[in-house]
Amino acid sequence: PVIMSQTNFVHRDNLTYPYEERGLQFGDGVYEVIRIYNGKYYLLEEHINRLFRSAEAIKIELPFSKDEITTLLQELLEKNSMSTDGKLYMQASRGTAPREHTFPTDVPANVYAYMEDFPRNLKNLSDGVSTITRRDVRWENCYIKSLNLLPNVIAKQEAKENGSYEAILHKDGVVTECSSSNVYLVKDGKVYTHPTTNNILHGCVRMRIEKFARDFDIPLIEEPFSISDIATADELFLSSSTSEVLPIVKVDNDTISNGRPGKITKRLQEAYELDAN
Ligand code: PDD
Repeated sequence: PVIMSQTNFVHRDNLTYPYEERGLQFGDGVYEVIRIYNGKYYLLEEHINRLFRSAEAIKIELPFSKDEITTLLQELLEKNSMSTDGKLYMQASRGTAPREHTFPTDVPANVYAYMEDFPRNLKNLSDGVSTITRRDVRWENCYIKSLNLLPNVIAKQEAKENGSYEAILHKDGVVTECSSSNVYLVKDGKVYTHPTTNNILHGCVRMRIEKFARDFDIPLIEEPFSISDIATADELFLSSSTSEVLPIVKVDNDTISNGRPGKITKRLQEAYELDAN
């Protein structure tokens, strides 16, 4: 496998990182996960735009323009002869320098990107998944796709230990998003989701869901819902590049509606499938 390191290509085994690396020592960096279907990136432009927005928000200067990174990532696909379903992981840290909290000067960002096979989870997509709820203890700039993922990691691990797929996060009862996905509630034919404030990541798949909803004349309302609204929800679903549009059929120990994926969720899933393939 070939990976992109800075703006070059190297064999995966030849990438070594110094121990004084800001991503490793401080989580001082940003990242993206991009889905690949049939050997093609899905929502590439949206992800690149977000990468630049995240980097700018924490004053990391990326060593390429948007056009240059687009070309590099296309080359990476070719060099890996990727022709099936996969995902790309890419990160940019503030660089390598002696460990001090303040930013080093004149140090280039460290960037790498690699891809791997990632088959779609058809069973989860058709049956739906169960979730737990947890307090959202993250910071106030969750719109930045930062490498600091400890609260997300812990919430997702607790979900796993509970036999669940995801953790729905809430601040004082108000649902923000999940540990690594956005979340939506359907009630009386309307879809509710948290507005794109600084408290959530502005998902690339979410942007597409907004479009699908417009196409279908399904009202999508950017208003937060509460943990207490879940009990009477008609449907619940989540979205991310790795999870797609995924029905939630259980929250903590309560079943959503009849425990089967709902109608609106399924329509949005179908729209996603057409769009991505
Ligand atoms: N996670 N919210 C959070 C906290 C996320 O980490 C993600 C993505 C999303 C959905 O964003 P998008 O639709 O652009 O994938 C929402 C990626 C997949 C990850 O960390 O692996």
